[in-house]
Amino acid sequence: MRVLLGVTGGIAAYKVALVARALAEDGHDVRVVPTAASLNFVGRATWEALTGNPATSDTFADVPSVQHVRLGQRADAILVAPATADFLAQFAHGEARDLLGNALLVATCPIVVAPAMHTEMWRNPATQANVVTLRERGVTVLEPAVGRLTGADSGPGRLPDPEKVVAALYAAVDGAADGVTVGAVDDGGGWGDLGGLTVLVTAGGTREPIDPVRYLGNRSSGHQGFALAEAARERGAAVELIAANVSLPSSEGVARTDVETTADLADAVARLAPTADVVIMAAAVADFRPRTATTHKLKKSDDGITLDLEKTEDILAGLVATRPQGQTVVGFAAETGDASASAAEHASAKARRKRADLLVFNEVGVDRGFGNRPNDVRLLNPAGEDVGHAAGSKLAVAHAILDAVVALRRGGAVTPAK
Ligand code: CTP
Repeated sequence: MRVLLGVTGGIAAYKVALVARALAEDGHDVRVVPTAASLNFVGRATWEALTGNPATSDTFADVPSVQHVRLGQRADAILVAPATADFLAQFAHGEARDLLGNALLVATCPIVVAPAMHTEMWRNPATQANVVTLRERGVTVLEPAVGRLTGADSGPGRLPDPEKVVAALYAAVDGAADGVTVGAVDDGGGWGDLGGLTVLVTAGGTREPIDPVRYLGNRSSGHQGFALAEAARERGAAVELIAANVSLPSSEGVARTDVETTADLADAVARLAPTADVVIMAAAVADFRPRTATTHKLKKSDDGITLDLEKTEDILAGLVATRPQGQTVVGFAAETGDASASAAEHASAKARRKRADLLVFNEVGVDRGFGNRPNDVRLLNPAGEDVGHAAGSKLAVAHAILDAVVALRRGGAVTPAK
């Protein structure tokens, strides 16, 4: 199961490292959300090393993936240990001052809180009233253990032993949902909404050789495709990226294959698409290639030259026609208007022709749509109807496209965030 482990600012945080390790060893996908104060006791590196997941505290980290909402939604169980008196007060009042507070307000899963503080603080009527409030709302608040506290004093206020804290969490989960197997990861999904899925993204633009030094190419920079790969990775997917002539670095954790021509791209797609859950064809693929590329450099001629071009294979059309059941296919269309139709009309006709689940359309021009600039796209369904709009940085647009993919896969309406 996905366990969100909140760590607040008390000395007992060091004992919670053993809790994190025990949960990870039991096969759970643990995500630690430390408060800023707790980092005085145990650093982020410890949590990340023990769990293999990022340990973020800040509500404004990773804003495009709406982490402050997603963490609470995705958690199967939440444990807060140690829980300070201040944390209990904040939680009882429903405050969302940091990432942990936000996650708790969103969560509907079982929540266990393990207080640890000095005896006087624990016995303080304000703290006791907060404990009563939380218990009335269904939160499991553990009784602190009795014994030696920091300094010379002793009494109730110690964090229970790590194994007792883990056992209390399992008991709360078992009690909340009969039959939950607490020893295993539930659905194989990670913390993101693409957890457990494989996403294949093509990016960049193919080049077709004319001779050893020249090629037919296009102006695609690969930025939008790379942003899609990065966003899908952030949302928990295993990501395969096929990069056609892109000099950008790809994000950590993304498996990259570099290609040059349309034929190379088609081969890589044929190899990787059958096992992908989502295929996003963001690459600008050449429609024609020289029938034969000469092995010598073409010489200038006063008469000009004529290139004999043949059509390339339509990779997207092939994908849609042969895709395995359950695969979601997304195409792109960069269009300009002309005498026969507007850019939007061309895009709508293309959506009907290509039959991809989504066609991402943007209107391009000499200064529009290319490079690392904000993007502005419309999403079209296979009937060519406009089902959404996304604008902003290429990463923000990538997340909006993935929102639409997630909505489609859940069988819902496509209503992108922006
Ligand atoms: N595409 C593809 N194989 C091709 C050409 C395009 O898979 N040989 C994909 C692109 O990756 C993109 C979508 O099809 O996702 C639309 O590309 P585009 O070049 O706009 O479409 P074309 O069918 O080539 O139409 P046009 O006549 O407008 O060039």
